[in-house]
Amino acid sequence: MNPDQPNPEFRRPPELEDRILEMHTAAMREMAEPRDGIRPTPVAYLIMCFLFTMWGGFYMGTYGGDWTGNGLAERSTPAAEGPKVTANPMVLGAEIYNACTQCHQADGKGLPGQFPPLADSEFVNGDPKRLAAIVLNGLNGEIEVSGKKYNSQMPAWKDNYNDEEVAAVMTFVRGSFGNKSALVGKDVVEAVRKDVGGGGVWNAQSLSEYASKH
Ligand code: HEC
Repeated sequence: MNPDQPNPEFRRPPELEDRILEMHTAAMREMAEPRDGIRPTPVAYLIMCFLFTMWGGFYMGTYGGDWTGNGLAERSTPAAEGPKVTANPMVLGAEIYNACTQCHQADGKGLPGQFPPLADSEFVNGDPKRLAAIVLNGLNGEIEVSGKKYNSQMPAWKDNYNDEEVAAVMTFVRGSFGNKSALVGKDVVEAVRKDVGGGGVWNAQSLSEYASKH
């Protein structure tokens, strides 16, 4: 008998037919092949994408620095955030003193009979509050400086300079022209401005009254 030819006599037993079918369905279910075609994107995946995008935006907004080359550190450095280094009062003061030179002169010696000297002056080197009061509100009338009398007008500077600037020019004149007095903090100017900022120009008498009260 030729083994390649199906035996026409052969018949499967009918109870086996069912079992073969059953076995194959099971096998086909387990090993489903990937198939071409378009399926809708899973909603969970879309939500995940959305959340990641939001998180990314939040992260860059929070830690992205200021979007300049200097801001690329994850968090800006304390130096970049902290207060600016205060300008050297002698440098700032020298700049402001330019406003005083036309009268008191660059060498601080003033002009005889017209403008009193700041060099070796008791008003400059004495009580810082009295000096602040003069610079803030100005000074008129007869006044004696280093044994010499003057009678002219010193303008007020309170509207031109803030407390730090007034303190700086005071520090400058107290440390220049041979003067060697201590520097003045802006808190002194602040206090005097609060006290007398609303007042008018001093004369010798009102100034000494103010100075004796403080
Ligand atoms: C327009 C001229 C003028 C300018 C500008 C001027 N002063 Fe005076 N200053 C005077 C005159 C005048 C007096 C004397 C006032 C008087 O005769 O009563 C005086 C007095 C003073 C005194 C007290 C007297 C002394 O010599 O110590 C001080 C301190 C002083 N000025 C500081 C300054 C400072 C600081 C500036 C600049 C911010 C300045 N002055 C700008 C004219 C000026």
